[in-house]
Amino acid sequence: EKGGYDHFMLKEIYEQPSVIKDTYRGRLHVNNGIIQMAGIEDNLEKFLNAERILIIACGTSWHAGLVAEYIIEEFARISVEVEYASEFRYRNPIITNKDVVIAISQSGETADTLAAIKLAKENGAFVFGVCNVVGSSISRETHAGAYTHAGPEIGVASTKAFTTQITVLTMIALRLAKAKGTMSNTEFHTHLQELELIPEKVTETLALSEVIAKEIAAIYKEVPNCLYLGRGYNFPVALEGALKLKEISYIHAEGYPAAEMKHGPIALIDEKMPVVVIAPKQGHYDKVVSNIQEIKSRSGKIIAVVSKGDTQVKALADHFIEIPETLDAFTPLLTTIPLQLLSYHIAVMRGCNVDQPRNLAKSVTVE
Ligand code: M6R
Repeated sequence: EKGGYDHFMLKEIYEQPSVIKDTYRGRLHVNNGIIQMAGIEDNLEKFLNAERILIIACGTSWHAGLVAEYIIEEFARISVEVEYASEFRYRNPIITNKDVVIAISQSGETADTLAAIKLAKENGAFVFGVCNVVGSSISRETHAGAYTHAGPEIGVASTKAFTTQITVLTMIALRLAKAKGTMSNTEFHTHLQELELIPEKVTETLALSEVIAKEIAAIYKEVPNCLYLGRGYNFPVALEGALKLKEISYIHAEGYPAAEMKHGPIALIDEKMPVVVIAPKQGHYDKVVSNIQEIKSRSGKIIAVVSKGDTQVKALADHFIEIPETLDAFTPLLTTIPLQLLSYHIAVMRGCNVDQPRNLAKSVTVE
């Protein structure tokens, strides 16, 4: 049932090209220039009239929410806030019938997310679910929704659920942008075309990462700490990379927006500290280059995720993993992949139980 892979996690990492395709199939119509998702079409007015969109989730799903915040605000110019469901439910939040709440959950059973949904509904909000498990509690409790079509995710560490959540949320952002006219037709079309190419670019990323992720893992498998840095759309990917490493390898890892370094974490840098920097060509490339220089001058070890053809970061980094080029907003779908593989190989080399890490459950149905 692991399909020839040693672990479910590895199988699920390699399934990403096909499940991303499953997720956009029947929804993304590049030739007609449309995105069609029943849950959105039926409730378009609610989204268009929303004063804000509030995203609630936990763990990796919360990271997907952070990526979506940047994408929805950029594409559709609707104000978005992202909150941990566990905080939201206990803090008497301001929520009205002008809010649209998007709840993201792979399992659809996370207790805090479920409770947050109930609270939002009690206060009159329209609640839209992005779930993977069909018929799950959250998919039933929400007013409408869109499933990710990732298939069963068995590994406790979420991988394909994350990239398919981002795929769904990106399609929502594009659909809303189209309806609001916040994106030019050309731009809209370019994004549709590029989204369709993501599965093959994920396949290419897997191939580009395969050997090198293992080599880097062998070098750093004994480190006690690791930092992950990214900017813009890749700031949440830094958080996700760090979460993946800590949960399956038990190495202490932290993710930061790269510019926050100088506000504290840079004090941690010495010759023993590996820093994973997400530095694709698009986005805030020059700023990330200066962050890398700051780390280098303090003897930190740089593991960089770069675009194919990059020269500047490659020259500075101790190790690099290449990804194909794509649009800035779509880079998380590619930059995530090598980080998943890096964590996986480190955990395997440390003899950890990759699919069932200690102290963790696949769905957190108690608070
Ligand atoms: O099923 P959910 O998406 O609601 O789960 C949320 C988190 O419990 C989950 O993402 C958790 O953080 C994973 N172990 C991360 O890999």
